[in-house]
Amino acid sequence: MRGLLFNELMGASIDRTTGSLATLFGMALIEHHQSHLAGHQLFNLLCLDCHSVGGYLNDIRIRTRGMGPADIDAIIRTMGGDRDYMPPFPGTAQERQILVYYILEGLQKKNP
Ligand code: HEC
Repeated sequence: MRGLLFNELMGASIDRTTGSLATLFGMALIEHHQSHLAGHQLFNLLCLDCHSVGGYLNDIRIRTRGMGPADIDAIIRTMGGDRDYMPPFPGTAQERQILVYYILEGLQKKNP
């Protein structure tokens, strides 16, 4: 038989679980927002000179159409090398990852 104490303990642990889940979820939202902003800045700083977003000039959405994260990552890693028509990517691996996801989530998803 489940006593009052059992229910109380279960209730408390459930509250604690949902509490920490909510915190984790909140933190994930903040991180997501921050990396979106960082991706936006990286793109504007490093790519926008030569790539428009939905415009006539070398549209990044067309250039990356149908690509997944690994494809875009491979392109950015070869900038300045095999792809010498672009300057080398000066950021860290983490910044590269942020930029890849910004292009996919922030720019590609706006495709008509
Ligand atoms: C100095 C100008 C310049 C800059 C800066 C630049 N690109 Fe490019 N990019 C180009 C040119 C030119 C092409 C080739 C377009 C074509 O095929 O006609 C290209 C092509 C691409 C392609 C298609 C794959 C390929 O190699 O043809 C991707 C993806 C791309 N760029 C991503 C980026 C990203 C991401 C950045 C910023 C980190 C960036 N580019 C910065 C000039 C630039």
